[in-house]
Amino acid sequence: MTNNQPTPEAIMRLINGYWATGILGAAATHSLFTHLDGGADTADRLASLAGISERGAQTLLDGLVSLGLVELNDGRYANTAEASTFLVEGRPADLSSFAKLKLTHMGGMVDLPEVVRAGGPVRDAAVEVADNPHWAEVVPAIAAQSVPVARIAAETLGLAEAGEISILDVGGGSGIYSAIWLGLNPAARATQLDWGPINELATRLVAERGVGDRFTCVDGDFHATDFGTDAYDVAVYSHIAHQEGPEDNVAILSRLRSALRPGGTLVLCDYVVEDDRSGPPFPLIFASEMLLKSKQGGTWRRADYHAWLTKAGFEDISFQSTPSPATLVFAR
Ligand SMILES: C[S@@+](CC[C@H](N)C(=O)[O-])C[C@H]1O[C@@H](n2cnc3c(N)ncnc32)[C@H](O)[C@@H]1O
Repeated sequence: MTNNQPTPEAIMRLINGYWATGILGAAATHSLFTHLDGGADTADRLASLAGISERGAQTLLDGLVSLGLVELNDGRYANTAEASTFLVEGRPADLSSFAKLKLTHMGGMVDLPEVVRAGGPVRDAAVEVADNPHWAEVVPAIAAQSVPVARIAAETLGLAEAGEISILDVGGGSGIYSAIWLGLNPAARATQLDWGPINELATRLVAERGVGDRFTCVDGDFHATDFGTDAYDVAVYSHIAHQEGPEDNVAILSRLRSALRPGGTLVLCDYVVEDDRSGPPFPLIFASEMLLKSKQGGTWRRADYHAWLTKAGFEDISFQSTPSPATLVFAR
């Protein structure tokens, strides 16, 4: 007989949630998903390929089965479809370096009780700091998350067939939007505004994708650097709004409206929450990251984006969900 009594199982898993970050980060560190993809399907084979102990390999495999990332059939281990798509090194949407990075961030959560008391970061490492080395670590690791989203935006806007367009990416990071869009449209040109050291990194990554000759960078703080007037057909503001407060978002979006030609389109991408804050789960939980790391950031509601974009002078505003936790917002 079953009954509907609550059990502690889910809460036990949550209390020990750091196990998941640890196991996933360690498995990524030792390229386990890549070796599994290459056909290693037992603990001893994985151990010898990864150069780790067999006891360690078996423990990671047990953990990964528990987490639903690896399947076990007749004594043979294999990646699930999700692990195969998102955790094998070198695949376009590979998140394994992000998993490794997050393992190093785990200790920061110890500050959260104090951070919620204070209402903001209690250490120096806030996102607002100029040339913060934090970004050089984060930016390459998050690039893969934008790959499917940039492709969807290109499809929605017909960018491949748009001819000689010019693109501005504010806080472009790895330059991933430019790399993908310039790859799709051989007549397009892109300009990225970001901190100097990040632009150097982007210049290298975009060149590796063979489109560096149409990519230029402007170094500086996007709060203070001129975006130009009537200069661009498409502007990108991706994963920036969540680090800014409402006033700064309106100010930057207004300057983006002026930088766009009449009829030009802003592509905004971020973790957008429902107006009643009932979901979706990932954007809701991401707010804690911004509380820890930024003075004014958060995860903003659809209504916030709508109001800010309207204030900034945009008229035609639409939202498009994606297969990732991020939502695309298009504004003209
Ligand atoms: C979360 S990353 C987003 C990168 C990229 N847009 C994407 O979606 O993958 C934030 C980027 O904004 C840049 N950034 C943050 N604050 C900035 C500022 N005040 N001025 C210029 N760039 C800034 C960081 O260096 C980093 O590249």
